[in-house]
Amino acid sequence: MPLQDLHSRTHRSLRISVVDKCDLRCTYCMPEDQHFLKREELMTREEVVTIARLFVERYGITKIRLTGGEPLLRPDVVEIVRDLAAMRVKLGLTTNAVSLHKYIDGLAAAGLRSLNVSLDTFDADRFKRIARRDLYEQVWNNVRLAHDRGMHIKLNMVVMRGVNDDEILRFVELTEHNGIDVRFIEFMPFAGNHWGRDKVYTYAEMLGLIGSVHSFDRLNDDINSTAKTYRVPGWRGTFAVISTVTEPFCGSCDRLRITAEGKMRNCLFAREETDLLSALRRGDDITELIEANVAAKHAMLGGLPPFKPEKQEEVLNDLSERPMVSIGG
Ligand code: 5AD
Ligand code: SF4
Repeated sequence: MPLQDLHSRTHRSLRISVVDKCDLRCTYCMPEDQHFLKREELMTREEVVTIARLFVERYGITKIRLTGGEPLLRPDVVEIVRDLAAMRVKLGLTTNAVSLHKYIDGLAAAGLRSLNVSLDTFDADRFKRIARRDLYEQVWNNVRLAHDRGMHIKLNMVVMRGVNDDEILRFVELTEHNGIDVRFIEFMPFAGNHWGRDKVYTYAEMLGLIGSVHSFDRLNDDINSTAKTYRVPGWRGTFAVISTVTEPFCGSCDRLRITAEGKMRNCLFAREETDLLSALRRGDDITELIEANVAAKHAMLGGLPPFKPEKQEEVLNDLSERPMVSIGG
């Protein structure tokens, strides 16, 4: 029985955050005063697997992505990957690549083939300003290592005007000789991330800039894809834009999310959550909770008003209390 909401969207994709901590502190994602969950508040490996199995076997979820914070900060991440890889799902993991060298062999052996890596710049000083840690070299070496080991890599760049928009072409040009998929993400507002409409470098601007230098073709995306994908003819990799702010794709979104403390969210911007973990620990049946959560999904952006410059204040006042680091990218 697939999970459908009021708008008849069928949900096939589940993001599971396995930890809320991160070893980077990206300005767009983590507020300065972020506090983290205690260990007993996190789902255990067994609880992650139980919840995931229910979604796969009963509700037809076919894609699972492990997220954080930073999932590699979980000592049992390889075991979790192994357990989930044994289910019949497409499995991915989002990472900042800081500790990837320690885990790459284990993750590959556990059955992981695909990584989404967050990387916003190729400049070490800029990296330090954005991520508040001086780890550019380590991260970039790890991206190359994972690529050389045959991992499929999606490189996610959050584009912020005046911060890193001058590197868009460099990211595109990385796809000439490398089979890497670069994804430009419009800067989104979350609690505590100093968002402003003027800092959003838009989808239209990105295509305009890239098109002034390279020709490119639109590729066919999966119908539930949140990205619009392009390729410079003859180049090995692709680039894509995730236009959540200026052209939301909510009508085709098939994603559900579980936070590290086992709360279910039906949207990145959701303001209500359903506590699955407490119910599970009490031994309750959680299927009704899951179904009610999905049924309550809003048509657009978790019920936020559309992003209009004149409505910026209203949008920010209306945001959920959660910063992105504890939702899971
Ligand atoms: N805007 C856009 N994307 C974001 N991410 C985190 N915060 C934001 C934001 N404010 C996404 C990035 C990052 C992943 C962990 O979450 O894609 O790579
Ligand atoms: Fe999906 Fe929510 Fe994003 Fe819209 S805003 S695409 S519903 S996660």
